[in-house]
Amino acid sequence: MNLPISNVNLSKFEELGGKQMLQKVAKLFYDKVYEHKWIGQYFQAVSQEIIESQQVDFMSSALGGPKVYCGRLPVPVHKNMFISEELFEIRHSLLLESLHEANASEELIAKWTKIDEAFKSGLVKKNIGECEKRYFTDEYLSFPDPAKKVG
Ligand code: HEM
Repeated sequence: MNLPISNVNLSKFEELGGKQMLQKVAKLFYDKVYEHKWIGQYFQAVSQEIIESQQVDFMSSALGGPKVYCGRLPVPVHKNMFISEELFEIRHSLLLESLHEANASEELIAKWTKIDEAFKSGLVKKNIGECEKRYFTDEYLSFPDPAKKVG
C-alpha cells in the first residue's frame, strides 16, 4: 500500500487547522456515524469519545502533525468487519460533509480524503468470507442495510 503520509511539518499542520480542526471534524463526523442507522451499528460497543481521540491522533500523525498515534494499524483493526464498498462510500460522504461543515480548507479536505481512500482496498471486502477474527474470542461485525430490509 502506498500511503500518502506526510513527514512532520508543524507549521504546515497548523496552517491546515492543527489539532483543534481535527477535533472539530472528528466530533461532527462521529456524531453523524453514531446516528446513522447502518454504519452506526458497527460502533455499538465502542465509546465515541475514545474513537474520536484515536482518529484525531491518527490524522495528526498522517498529516504531518505530532506523531502521537500509538493505536493499531487500520487494516488489521478492521479485519473482522464486513465493510462493503457501499458502506465505505457512505462513510466517505459523511466525512466530506463533516469537513465542509467544519470549514476545512480545500487542501485539508484533499489530504484527508486521500489518506482515507488509500485504505479502501485494504478495508473493503466482497463478502463475509473475507473477514478474519483478530483474536480467539473476536466476533465478526456484519450488518445489512436496515433501509433495505424486507417484510
Ligand atoms: C465503513 C468503513 C469503516 C468502518 C465500519 C469502521 C469501523 C471501525 C470500528 C468499529 C472501530 C473500533 C474497533 C475496535 O475498537 O475494536 C474502528 C477503529 C479505527 N478505524 Fe475504522 N472503520 C471504517 C473505516 C476506516 C477508515 C477508512 C479509516 C482510515 C484510516 C479508519 C481508521 C480507524 C482507526 C485509526 C481506528 C482506531 C484503531 C485502534 O483501535 O487502535 N477506519 N473503525
